[in-house]
Amino acid sequence: MKSLPAIFLCLFAFGVVIHAQDVTSLGKIGPVVSFAKSEDGVTLNCQDKSQVRLTVLAADLIRVRASFTKPIPAKDHSWAIAKESWETPPWRLSETAESIMIFTAEVEVVVHRSPLLIDFRDARTHVVINADEQPMAYDAKGALAAMMFDPKAGMFIAAAKKLGFDEHFYGLGEKATQLDKRRGRFVNWNSDTPGYTEGKDPIYQTIPFYLGLQRGRAYGIFFDNSYRSYFDFGHASQQRAWFGAEGGELNYYFFCGPSIKKILNRYADLTGHMPMPPMWALGNQQSRWSYYPDTMVEEVVRQYRERDLPLDVIHLDIDYMQDYRVFTFDPKRFPNPKGLADKLGKQGVKIVAIVDPGVKYQLPSKNTRPINGARPELEPQDQRYYVFDEGREKNYFQHRKNGDLFIPKVWPGDSVFVDYTLPEARRWWGDLHRAYLDNGVAGIWNDMNEPSDFVDQTGKNQMDVVSYDEGENSTHAKNRNVFALLEARATYEGLERLRPNKRPYVITRAAYAGIQRYSTMWTGDTNSTWDALALNVPMFTTLGLSGEPFVGSDVGGFIGRGNGELLVRAYQISFLAPFCRNHKVIDGYDQEPWRFGKFYEDIIRKYLKLRYELLPFLYTTLEEAHRTGVPLFRPLMLNYQDDPNTYNLDDEFMIGDDLLVAPIVKPDVTARLVYLPKGVWYDYWTNKKYLGGTMIRLDAPLDTVPMFVRAGAIIPLGPQMNYLGERPFDRMTFAIYPDDSGSASTTLYEDDGISPAYQQGAFRRTALEVKRAAGGYVVSVRAPVGHYNPGTRKFSFVIKSAGPNPKVATIADDGRARTVEIK
Ligand code: GLC
Repeated sequence: MKSLPAIFLCLFAFGVVIHAQDVTSLGKIGPVVSFAKSEDGVTLNCQDKSQVRLTVLAADLIRVRASFTKPIPAKDHSWAIAKESWETPPWRLSETAESIMIFTAEVEVVVHRSPLLIDFRDARTHVVINADEQPMAYDAKGALAAMMFDPKAGMFIAAAKKLGFDEHFYGLGEKATQLDKRRGRFVNWNSDTPGYTEGKDPIYQTIPFYLGLQRGRAYGIFFDNSYRSYFDFGHASQQRAWFGAEGGELNYYFFCGPSIKKILNRYADLTGHMPMPPMWALGNQQSRWSYYPDTMVEEVVRQYRERDLPLDVIHLDIDYMQDYRVFTFDPKRFPNPKGLADKLGKQGVKIVAIVDPGVKYQLPSKNTRPINGARPELEPQDQRYYVFDEGREKNYFQHRKNGDLFIPKVWPGDSVFVDYTLPEARRWWGDLHRAYLDNGVAGIWNDMNEPSDFVDQTGKNQMDVVSYDEGENSTHAKNRNVFALLEARATYEGLERLRPNKRPYVITRAAYAGIQRYSTMWTGDTNSTWDALALNVPMFTTLGLSGEPFVGSDVGGFIGRGNGELLVRAYQISFLAPFCRNHKVIDGYDQEPWRFGKFYEDIIRKYLKLRYELLPFLYTTLEEAHRTGVPLFRPLMLNYQDDPNTYNLDDEFMIGDDLLVAPIVKPDVTARLVYLPKGVWYDYWTNKKYLGGTMIRLDAPLDTVPMFVRAGAIIPLGPQMNYLGERPFDRMTFAIYPDDSGSASTTLYEDDGISPAYQQGAFRRTALEVKRAAGGYVVSVRAPVGHYNPGTRKFSFVIKSAGPNPKVATIADDGRARTVEIK
């Protein structure tokens, strides 16, 4: 029988105690005995032989790097960082007997020498924004090592910050919990967690970036450490918020706000801006584990078209392959994938194929049949599998420390994983995607990349797997959380090389910070339940606040029994999410939009059609996310940072600055309270005006999701269509919602939607302004910026305040500045 001490020992061994462990008991860095100034910052030398370097990257961005009991190593590498060299802004240093201070135009960093404590203050007000609660800490005596997941990985390190009485916390990427993370504690260790429910942690992704907000003023911290990491926002103690990791460096970036949008902009500069995906990625998508054979795929598309339901993308899940061998097609189920892609292409539908990291472990059998080198993906692979052969020959697969190939079990059974830290292996993997592009596949879906291993999902079975890691030959403890980032990078760069004239489209399940440079994401294997649906909003908005703008989840939920009402309410959120894809587990209930009958199908059609009409608005807002790092799908607090009513509002969201949505996330509910921030709002469906700064009660029968437009906004709408390219954007309607002074404005963004030419200025930005004038309104269409030319088209302007007979004016737009009267 198990004894109590043995049970405790077990808990220790699984790292449970680290959550609750007291960071105050760790060894402390410092005090400072001397320092050296360099061109971009200072290096502090400590009595305990530790070193701390503070680097001024920008007036609002300071890097803190600490090395305990030894000098900071010369090697400095992170897979997350996109921008490594910064132009040092003006800054100055001053010192007193007690402290060393760095001043930039925006932030003052005060380093107290003894004990070594760092404060960040606002340069204008000198108010402390964020301050160490204790010196940076490390497991000096090795006391924690025994409790760590992998004691051999390194030393536990942590930083603790004073917790504000009214401080709110946001970010950390994909977390199955509420918007405001105060009082929460979190672990980052990419994990395959099907059917996760609220509170499950960790799940698939690691984004160790968070925002703190107090009295309307925000700061950001990016703890760039890929080891298993911990964040505690006042859970263990109301004294402090702390973060730590089971190895690596105490290396973090401090972002000075006070505006969250500004911080997100800087975070995107540091870790990379999301490139524009192809516009069709904003189209409606349909998936199932799995549609096969090819005729089944055709039938699903036929149903969509026959039922007048918009669709741009259909997904091929794992059963398109030969026994789950990636980069192959099953010759019986998909004998002519290119032919299928062409047929679907004629109906405006593109194929996205799943690609898992597990490569089937398959030694060539005796008397192997040669594989046709030109078209290996279409050849039978039962005697030899070209991907395994090539990867093994080139030595690109992961090995254990003792030199054995690492053989996890995934869908194909025994498998191997690529060491994506090897540049030539990434290139090889990327080039393998020719097998998909040659066969008409338009985008790639990277799944199972935590990486999932059926032998052991905790990662223990992988602990002695070594990766090249820039010559460091480091182990899984450091590399697990970046595995998906590097796989997505290999995929993205491969697609870019193979098809330089088209924007890559990649979807991933797992991630590390920086993933937005390579991939869009979805929230994995959710449940078909109301609780899971309610998590959509805080999860999408949190991902947006963590640098991942292109998000979505399986519409209707992945696991379990859905129903028409749940599916409709799910579409009433996802029709505005960047990634809108209905997907379902293999043995689940069918869930395509028509599966619960015409009543529900008709409502879903209404929302999918509306999504397509809103594409110019969504695309304009997506481009803002690309350019500024500010996401499309936003929590209200991002737009109303000074309004505490929005700080934990997680059943409403906004698209850009202008559209507010209050979805229904409970069954049998047909009315709800909606909080509208200060200002005037128009009900999207009735144009009725509401004064914000209060809650209102609204009816929300099943066919209606409460939706509001901010007064002062102009929403650009396109023509009705069932897929992108069905018709040109030859008619744009600008829905104008004047504010109290009669004004409204917007800037429409357009480009060719498919090529990377927008990066060279091939876009068009058209600013519009509306003012009240005698007897009506005047619209000023400014001269467009950028050299993309969409040709002549009709612009209609509709004043939405005007009751049943709105004022309308229509012109032919030929790209010249002009004013238009609306009487
Ligand atoms: C994983 C994915 C899911 C997919 C399934 C089969 O569970 O998250 O979306 O359908 O694998 O490939």
